[in-house]
Amino acid sequence: MNILLLGSGGREHALAWKIAQSALVETLYVAPGNAGTAEVAINVDGLKADDFEGVARFVLEKSIDMLVVGPEDPLVKGVSNYFATREDLRHIPVIGPSQQGAQLEGSKDFAKAFMKRHGIPTAAYETFDGTQLEAGQRFLETLQPPYVLKADGLCAGKGVLILETLEEAQQELANMLGGKFGNASARVVIEEFLSGIECSVFVLTDGRHYQILPEAKDYKRIGVGDTGLNTGGMGSVSPVPFADKAWMQRVEDEIIRPTVEGLAKDDLDYKGFIFFGLINTADGPKVIEYNCRMGDPETETVMLRLKTDIVELFQAVAEGRLDECKVEHDERAAVCVMCVSGGYPEAYEKGFPITGLHPEGCVTFHAGTAVKNGQVVTAGGRVIAVSAYGKDKADALAQAMKGAQEVQFEKKYFRSDIGQDL
Ligand code: AMP
Ligand code: GLY
Repeated sequence: MNILLLGSGGREHALAWKIAQSALVETLYVAPGNAGTAEVAINVDGLKADDFEGVARFVLEKSIDMLVVGPEDPLVKGVSNYFATREDLRHIPVIGPSQQGAQLEGSKDFAKAFMKRHGIPTAAYETFDGTQLEAGQRFLETLQPPYVLKADGLCAGKGVLILETLEEAQQELANMLGGKFGNASARVVIEEFLSGIECSVFVLTDGRHYQILPEAKDYKRIGVGDTGLNTGGMGSVSPVPFADKAWMQRVEDEIIRPTVEGLAKDDLDYKGFIFFGLINTADGPKVIEYNCRMGDPETETVMLRLKTDIVELFQAVAEGRLDECKVEHDERAAVCVMCVSGGYPEAYEKGFPITGLHPEGCVTFHAGTAVKNGQVVTAGGRVIAVSAYGKDKADALAQAMKGAQEVQFEKKYFRSDIGQDL
């Protein structure tokens, strides 16, 4: 079959790497892709993931049999609905939820109300809009610091503020409701602060059944020891030691199953990935957030540890028979170390040539690269994800670090402590 994958980051390169290994695939296209996806698939230069008409034209022209959506944006904008409602496209399965299902990520208030309705453990909260600033500020007074403020809508990962003092929190609430994140912060969720270690759990669902993929932990801060500014993700590790059998059983019983049952009860059309951002509190696992797609850079380790043919799973998702599948996890550990541009997540330069792209014993995924005059160059903050297997976490980290040292470009930086806190 012919598959079109939408997106252009490290997550999409990892998905493309995995999809391309399936015997079921004839041709894999990635739109728009990057220099790395071009190694395992055919890039569709210039075709943007949220250009639905352009995507539709390409799908019909190349006889695409399945559309796989990497990032959240096209899902929240309704690419699945677009395909489902067009006579000439509705026979083509889309791996990615409907616009209504994608609200689990697209609206924090929607996600919180969903969890409350279905008894899924999460932080206590209230939502306020621009007419309720005073009520919001009074609500903050009833909470203990630190204060968690979340813009309701999509903010490219920047919409969550954690403030230490009541004054700051009240000021930021006013800023957010006043348009700090544009329309995305027209409503703000204020929630109870939870403490514990985070873990990302991924499932594939056909809307009725689900299969659990390998879990992972990502590292968001720029500095060693989880210090400094937040980034898109500096690395990941899978498996996560505290996510043992008993813990995962709790997650399945208290969070995953009620979520999938909730989707069915609420009549939300959902065929695709659910990313559960969890926190391991003293009271057990709770949901910090849902995403309607895979995580980045978690995918760069999860795909290494998924032994099952992912296209077989996608077909079962499309046909509503995911219960017939078995998902096998690789026993080995995987670690991903992200090589980023010096200066990131603040100002950085692009266009530096990259060499050493295939270190032995590693799998490298391109996050932000481009090709200029035949040379692969840096084209983003996060540049190359170096992933590796190991007999355990330490072994995988050592291997990935060796690889990250071999990848060369001016002002390269990476964290040397991925997975060391666990
Ligand atoms: P989110 O975009 O909802 O994942 O939030 C971004 C990050 O903020 C999370 O990965 C957590 O580290 C942190 N965070 C969000 N909500 C809470 C909370 N209720 N308590 C503590 N930390 C939180
Ligand atoms: N790694 C977190 C995310 O993809 O949102």
